Amino acid sequence: MTLPTHLQNIHLPLGDQRTGRFYGQDILSVAQFDRADLEYIFGVAEAMRTMVAHIGTFDLLKGKILANLFYEPSTRTSSSFLAAMERLGGSVIPINEVRYSSVSKGESLPDTVRTLECYADVIVLRHPETGSAAIAAAAARKPIINAGDGIGEHPTQALLDLFTIREELGRIDGLTVTLLGDLKYGRTVHSLAKLLALFNVKVNYVSPEILKMPAALVAQLREKGLTQAEFKALDPVLAETDVLYVTRVQKERFENLDEYEQVKNAYVITPATLRPAKPKLALMHPLPRVGEIAPEVDDDPRAAYFRQMEYGLYVRMALLAMVLGKA
Ligand code: NCD
Repeated sequence: MTLPTHLQNIHLPLGDQRTGRFYGQDILSVAQFDRADLEYIFGVAEAMRTMVAHIGTFDLLKGKILANLFYEPSTRTSSSFLAAMERLGGSVIPINEVRYSSVSKGESLPDTVRTLECYADVIVLRHPETGSAAIAAAAARKPIINAGDGIGEHPTQALLDLFTIREELGRIDGLTVTLLGDLKYGRTVHSLAKLLALFNVKVNYVSPEILKMPAALVAQLREKGLTQAEFKALDPVLAETDVLYVTRVQKERFENLDEYEQVKNAYVITPATLRPAKPKLALMHPLPRVGEIAPEVDDDPRAAYFRQMEYGLYVRMALLAMVLGKA
């Protein structure tokens, strides 16, 4: 494709060469990435951001089809993958309501995936069971992108979270990152903590006792050399925090809803909460929020959660271009 002259010096490896390092690969867990991979992905995401700002939509993935297969509710993840594919000139088979598909007749995940790959070049999957993305990938020949598997992982969210930190604060090494809320069931924090372990950061976990970060994950990250500390309250760590990552208490994962009621309002960030925080804090949330951050905080320049969603578009454009061999 021919770019306008003012865009020709933007580095985006366009063309038909199928040599990119993620060509044809699944994206199942953040464990598959090293720091060089992250730099590469973020470089492509930066280029996508520039291209979107200048020309909106372009034909890098023209003729390619994405199947968006969602067994759990989603607003941001499904619509950002859809927008990412369309901005790259490709098209999408959206399956957001599996109860209207053959899944409701009892079709297995491997069979559904084998069906969709007859029609699509890549499949984005969200599913309530941990490990489901790996099961789908074992059945499929085409790339599977994990868009959240139960309480397991949400690798594309973690990539966009890290990209957000880099864009907002200009670096990752040397930061203190505080993860707050439901650290037991929140898959976004499981993936993000694993990625942070690749950097020289300090991570604080703030949660109610029953929603602590899984002990096995904490031990695994300690082995990797990540500095971690656990707290029940935000006060002791707020002043040193550079990134405050707030999460929703995951009501749908509780077996006992009385327990949910006890912890659902454990932390609420208000303008008063943020008074002792750093002036350069990045306040993040994967969203949706259900009361953890008061709307009065939205106008604070440190509130990064709406920008975070936008960064997600560029990261998902980068990932689609890469697994389809175009970047
Ligand atoms: C998260 C998810 O689905 O894990 N949302 C998202 O993808 N942005 C977080 C949540 O549901 O609380």
